[in-house]
Amino acid sequence: MNELRSQASTWSRHAARYDELFLDPYGPHVENPLWEALAAVPDPARKTVADLGCGTGPLLPYLVERFQRVIALDFAPAMLECAGDRLGPAAADRVTFLERPMHELDDLAGQIDVAVAVNSLVMPDVRLVDRTLRSIRACLRPGGQFLGIVPSIDAICYHLMLLMEHALDQGHLPREAQKLAALHAERRHYDFAFGQFHFQGLRQKFWRPFEVEYRLAKAGFTSTKLRKVLYPWDDSLAGGESLTGFPPSWDWFFRALG
Ligand SMILES: C[S@@+](CC[C@H](N)C(=O)[O-])C[C@H]1O[C@@H](n2cnc3c(N)ncnc32)[C@H](O)[C@@H]1O
Repeated sequence: MNELRSQASTWSRHAARYDELFLDPYGPHVENPLWEALAAVPDPARKTVADLGCGTGPLLPYLVERFQRVIALDFAPAMLECAGDRLGPAAADRVTFLERPMHELDDLAGQIDVAVAVNSLVMPDVRLVDRTLRSIRACLRPGGQFLGIVPSIDAICYHLMLLMEHALDQGHLPREAQKLAALHAERRHYDFAFGQFHFQGLRQKFWRPFEVEYRLAKAGFTSTKLRKVLYPWDDSLAGGESLTGFPPSWDWFFRALG
């Protein structure tokens, strides 16, 4: 649990500069299946949605507008503070803010119609990930669904490959090209075998698609569907300007039933 406390305070430290540091899945040029999945929720004005690991709250304005009840949960107090500021007092009054880790959902058992977790299923300890997934499933109403996005480690491999190809095309030798690609994509922050990312005190889990399916099924979710969230090659990705001719990079979106 010390790890949890330390990660919560590290996330809090990153709250103020969040937008500069992290890829934005809500950007206008991003193809994000989450929007379609949320728009397809029947009768949202009578439903409860939980934004788990809501961060600075970029999704909250949309959820507040559509759903009857919104729960915004995060274990990092500075993130919740930003989320409250973003909404302003009138809208914030309609949201229940919960400062706690997202495996602690016992009091919400059977109350949520739609649980959402965007890039927040990132605890490095997979035992905690499994526990969190079980808690999320238990808080769903019958027929409830879980929508999420997880950071993709396979997309980092793809990015490295393209950067290396680019360096080779520029005449670098393979060894040199590898070095350049590793430098640009900040390979040193990643453990590819176990899907981990270490950066300025943050320790995050990154995912491969088979692990998303495996862990959701292990927690009892059914009918899991995966799709890519597609990010354009732009200046938010290292060397993006030189890769615009290639298929885009991605994170993994999933929809699963409780
Ligand atoms: C990458 S940010 C994403 C924030 C937001 N969902 C978004 O789309 O911008 C991850 C957020 O999840 C929160 N988080 C990570 N692990 C958590 C956990 N176990 N319990 C609660 N919040 C968690 C962090 O504090 C952070 O605000």
